[in-house]
Amino acid sequence: MLLRRIKCLRYLGIRCNSSHYVTTPIFYVNAAPHIGHLYSAVIADAHCRYQRLRYPEQHVRLCTGTDEHGTKIQQAASLHGIPVAKYCDDISQRYREVFRSASIQPEDFIRTTEDRHKRAVANFWRTLYTRGHIYSAAYSGWYCVSDETFLTDSQLRLDEASGTRYSLESGHPVEWTEETNYMFRLSQFQDDVGHWVKAEARIRPAKFEKILLDTLSEPLPDVSVSRPSNRVHWAIPVPDDESQTVYVWLDALVNYLSSVGYPEEQFSAHWPPAQQVIGKDILKFHGIYWPAFLLAAGLKPPGQLYVHSHWTVDGQKMSKSKHNVVDPVQAARQYTMEGLRYFLLREGVAHSDGNYSHVKAQRILNSELADTLGNLLSRACAKSLNPGQIYPSASAEHLADLLRSLDAAKRLQDSLLQLSERCASHYECNHFHLVADTAMAALHAANNFFESSKPWTLKAGAPDGNQARLETIIAMTMDALRLSGIVLQPIIPQLANRLLDKLSVPAAQRGWNYLAESFATKPNSSPGLGESRQLDGQTSALLFQRILEETAVTGVKEQKPQPAKRSKSKKKERRETTS
Ligand code: MSP
Repeated sequence: MLLRRIKCLRYLGIRCNSSHYVTTPIFYVNAAPHIGHLYSAVIADAHCRYQRLRYPEQHVRLCTGTDEHGTKIQQAASLHGIPVAKYCDDISQRYREVFRSASIQPEDFIRTTEDRHKRAVANFWRTLYTRGHIYSAAYSGWYCVSDETFLTDSQLRLDEASGTRYSLESGHPVEWTEETNYMFRLSQFQDDVGHWVKAEARIRPAKFEKILLDTLSEPLPDVSVSRPSNRVHWAIPVPDDESQTVYVWLDALVNYLSSVGYPEEQFSAHWPPAQQVIGKDILKFHGIYWPAFLLAAGLKPPGQLYVHSHWTVDGQKMSKSKHNVVDPVQAARQYTMEGLRYFLLREGVAHSDGNYSHVKAQRILNSELADTLGNLLSRACAKSLNPGQIYPSASAEHLADLLRSLDAAKRLQDSLLQLSERCASHYECNHFHLVADTAMAALHAANNFFESSKPWTLKAGAPDGNQARLETIIAMTMDALRLSGIVLQPIIPQLANRLLDKLSVPAAQRGWNYLAESFATKPNSSPGLGESRQLDGQTSALLFQRILEETAVTGVKEQKPQPAKRSKSKKKERRETTS
């Protein structure tokens, strides 16, 4: 299975190129960021962090940014009575801040209002034009401002009472538009796009490949790629024709090129992107228009589109009118940003919508980060058991005896032995929920081992061999914590860092290859990381505070600490079946 995945990545040229370029969609600045936006960015960031951890020789480049042109933004700024440029600056800055606080680590944050981007768009346009892929035509059709797209009759629903038509897919209203536009000969790329879509592992999860193939089973119509400047003035002018501005989706898609320096030759060092993360609502633009535009310009389309589904809130679509939009800054006050990041990646699966609920977030974070991970660290570092505050080295004799005589020790060893391969294979497919599952299973095994070996019955400092056994138990437990910390770095980078800091794991020993250094793999030689070491006294052993139960009357009340228990995740429902 793993071999097949590695083969398919090779097929896409991902490993052959020393650059691994990953993108998020660029975010509309018509409103503040919500957890859905953060989700796109967190997926891409966790993917990149894993790539760096696993393939340190690669240059991993993450780009994100903001999409700032078009009617939608024009209207939002005027609604707020703010000059449009200032409005864009403000919201774009909010995205930067949210991403920074969520430890999203992009190499570039691009804005479509930047000069470097405008130059790239003008160049791209000229390339399409001189290659004969753009022509001028009278155009009429239904335009949806919210989705910034023309729609055909079959994509609409008519509300008889008001006479208004709405997009079937997004539910947003459309307006009738007649204008002279430039058109792109999309129809000529039907076969080439189909060929690109069908390549192995091109579109993931596979259900989205099927959706694209359905669209491609009908003839593709040519698409409008400009709007009259007098209607859409907040946009990039069409080169050599001031009466028209570039269609916002063409403008937006080119950001992926501008970020790597297109049209200067340097861009080819990163091109094409290895993976582009997008939400399901923008599949048509990235899975049909984008490869067609690139092929028309003589450029390679991306290696993979990774498509995620959406977050609903208590079962409902998030929308301003329903007042149920979840602000990540607000949510982080309850859960911390690391908690929110963990919840999104732990609970979200790409192939189907996820439901965001406070109760669920609280249950998962308390059970997994506080009780299973945090509690085990506190116990292993407790002064009563570990007065010297050390990460001890195990005694080979006691280790062998524990592995022989205690089932729970053997189960912990088995679990740690599988950790590296299992987590790698889940990370290769962006199945972060399965990585978290696997790490939690190892930590549950470690909790069980700790309970079963009863270290509190062995008096610290006793001369009769108890001390060596006690240290061996702590060393094995700390090995489990250390290995879990290593694999969880891409998902919860700050918490994992604190855990590894507390255990005094040097930065150079946090790489993927260090998963092979533990009592589990080397029970007979020098186990763990060898020498006993002092724990870091500056870092608290309290990793993740249980989330407080909010009560209406008395304000905030702490829940009673729970013993670590396996949370009953709805595994069957959440298993990735489609990739
Ligand atoms: N500006 C375009 C993208 C241009 S890329 C060349 C756009 N912006 S957006 O701000 O509306 O959406 C950005 C991302 O957020 C998309 O991937 C979208 O799917 C994602 N999400 C928006 N709402 C979401 C949820 N409710 N849940 C999960 N992701 C969601 O589209």
